[in-house]
Amino acid sequence: MNKRIPVIAANWKMYKTKDEALEFIFAVNGNVPERSQVESIICAPAILLNLLVKREGEHLRIGAQNMHYADEGAFTGENSPAQVKTAGADYILIGHSERRSYFGETDKDVNLKMQAAFKYDLTPILCVGEQLADRESHQTKHVLDAQLEKAFDKIDASKAVKTIIAYEPVWAIGTGKTATPEMANDTIKEVRAKVADLYGSEIAQSVRILYGGSVKPNNIHELLKESDIDGALIGGAALESNNFLVFTDAA
Ligand code: G3P
Repeated sequence: MNKRIPVIAANWKMYKTKDEALEFIFAVNGNVPERSQVESIICAPAILLNLLVKREGEHLRIGAQNMHYADEGAFTGENSPAQVKTAGADYILIGHSERRSYFGETDKDVNLKMQAAFKYDLTPILCVGEQLADRESHQTKHVLDAQLEKAFDKIDASKAVKTIIAYEPVWAIGTGKTATPEMANDTIKEVRAKVADLYGSEIAQSVRILYGGSVKPNNIHELLKESDIDGALIGGAALESNNFLVFTDAA
């Protein structure tokens, strides 16, 4: 049994109005496990951060879904790391496949955001994952190794160990096609091995690595039984407060 504290993170993407967000947080507050047992995180749209941070319960934390890597500047529509931090976010999603595919986020952008996250004391949730074509052509390890190597460029070990990594096969996101627990665990073991190559086995064993991609209440338990899966990053299913509590209880 590993000693890593599990993480359950909801990625609300571009969902929830102010009232829906308040309804959710009032329903979960006081019902999530102690933080010493599970790190329970809501990654919310930037416009909702302040609203939620003021109401996060003792054991719930709020994260952001995106930020620019520059300290400030003429980047219309973007949020700076300082704005995210001073809004009260503790975590920041970086490299989500939707940012990479819809908004052209490159591995270089991901690395600059990693550097900025640590500069502003934000815990990165670094997303990596392969396309279906990569999986079918047995290129998954090659793709993930490259994403990890570039993401962690110039990041020293004392920072890398704080990073939460989310393995999200792109072909499982929003599709209802979840990776099998065995496949997810085997791939996460490969991610952990790459972290060991970069920073040594002690850090690799300390880093939490989550699975994301069509996680539901009916598959979370099997996934979390696996040796190397330290939690989940959940989209659609985690929009429901009851489901979120099922996930935090399962961890
Ligand atoms: O970041 C988590 C998300 O990409 C997974 O989405 O809806 O497949 O749980 P979903």
